[in-house]
Amino acid sequence: MKAIAEAPSKAIITGEHFVVHGAWALAAALPRKERVTVEPSARFGVVSDRFSGSRSPELVPVSRVVEEMAREFSADPKVKVSIRSAVPGGAGLGSSAATMVAVASAFSRLNTLGLGVDEIARCSMVGERNIHGNPSGIDPAICALGGVILFRPGSPPKKLALGGSRSLIISYSGMGRSTRGQIGRVSQTRKKFPSFFSTLVDGISDLSRSAADRLREGDMEELGRLLAVNHAILGAVGVSNETLDGMVDLMDALGCYGAKLTGAGGGGSVLAVAPEAKEKSVVSGLSARGFDTFKVEIPVEGVRSWLER
Ligand code: PMV
Repeated sequence: MKAIAEAPSKAIITGEHFVVHGAWALAAALPRKERVTVEPSARFGVVSDRFSGSRSPELVPVSRVVEEMAREFSADPKVKVSIRSAVPGGAGLGSSAATMVAVASAFSRLNTLGLGVDEIARCSMVGERNIHGNPSGIDPAICALGGVILFRPGSPPKKLALGGSRSLIISYSGMGRSTRGQIGRVSQTRKKFPSFFSTLVDGISDLSRSAADRLREGDMEELGRLLAVNHAILGAVGVSNETLDGMVDLMDALGCYGAKLTGAGGGGSVLAVAPEAKEKSVVSGLSARGFDTFKVEIPVEGVRSWLER
């Protein structure tokens, strides 16, 4: 018997980085998925279609999740984990979180642990900490729960009822980066300007709550304005760069309501909202400059798992 789990990727709509310091952030699950198979084996091992060798540093967090769950739930850690990835790594689209969530979900299914999505997100944090240092937990939360959530550390995530689908445009710069390093940059700004930084945390919380309301109402034009403000603030704390600013400018020039970097920045992806009539030309305009660009429909369901013989 083997257990299979699929977890969605994600985009942070507003509030990245500030969420690490207590702000509300808004995130959506995206359709590209990570698929993980967990099956009993003579010894522990991980194979991935992206990294080779179960001792490769990228795969160590997977073993941490399995070890910790096996210890907590008195389960057998001798399993073979196979990962099939459809989400580019280092793109700010949550490939590591989706993988950890799918590992935790498949391990739970194989051992009939019956864990709910909140528990799965909690278990996957062991792997996320191993990769990112001190993450807020927003990535595993959205990959596990799916849909669209307002999140801040220490509060239960709030799921948004959209009442219909919405489209987002995602464009990948092709530049990878370390989330850990980017979190460190922002923490430096906080150290230098503590009181200014705390007003930004409060401001971003307000901005995320407004963005959630606009998204729920389908007011994409106003949502776009909020994205533009959020991008400017991320630039001010040092996590944008010339490429990302150029992509945002291009999206604006092609008629988007607004655009911003999404995730840790310094590379990774840009997220935009656009009038329906402009979406095609935005996607083709960015693609023509070599950026992997696609339109996604949200909401997308969270992690799911099943057993196969
Ligand atoms: O997973 P990434 O690289 O998209 O970034 C995660 C979002 C951050 O806010 C930068 C970090 C965090 O843990 O919340």
